[in-house]
Amino acid sequence: MKELSIRIDVKIYRFDELNEADRALVEAAREATFRSYAPYSHFSVGAAARLTDGTIITGNNQENAAYPSGICAERTTLFYANAQHPDLPVETLAIAARNERGEFLQHPIPPCGACRQVMLETEKRFGHPMRILLFGTEGIYELQQVGDLLPLSFDESALK
Ligand code: THU
Repeated sequence: MKELSIRIDVKIYRFDELNEADRALVEAAREATFRSYAPYSHFSVGAAARLTDGTIITGNNQENAAYPSGICAERTTLFYANAQHPDLPVETLAIAARNERGEFLQHPIPPCGACRQVMLETEKRFGHPMRILLFGTEGIYELQQVGDLLPLSFDESALK
């Protein structure tokens, strides 16, 4: 028997510990929650992607009366970023969420499994690590790459 241990490093920052560019990115993700369309869950998620040239793309969750037809904030944002800038890696993705009372969450929500898979593809497609900032009012979690959120993942190499 062999054993494999996987270690994930997460740094937790106060908002005022972030540099100016990251504060602006987190603020963009927070603002994007106010444009989400979430009449069913009343859970508003916003995301902001900073591309390697400094461009910031924002998005949010878009729900639908046919529930599975809706899409999460992370995928809205990454698909739009990749659709508009197919040659630019996403350097950092910030995510924020507000609950049904309209309050920002104290502790960040980690992205759902489908979004992690799409985040991974974005990272792999550009061969560039995508940093992730998960906003919570009590701390902002920083992960250095998507692989940290999705170890033992499925990707295109399995198709060969
Ligand atoms: N949601 C996101 O936008 N991102 C996530 O990572 C988790 C969930 C959305 C989907 C749905 O509109 C609402 O939050 C409740 O699940």
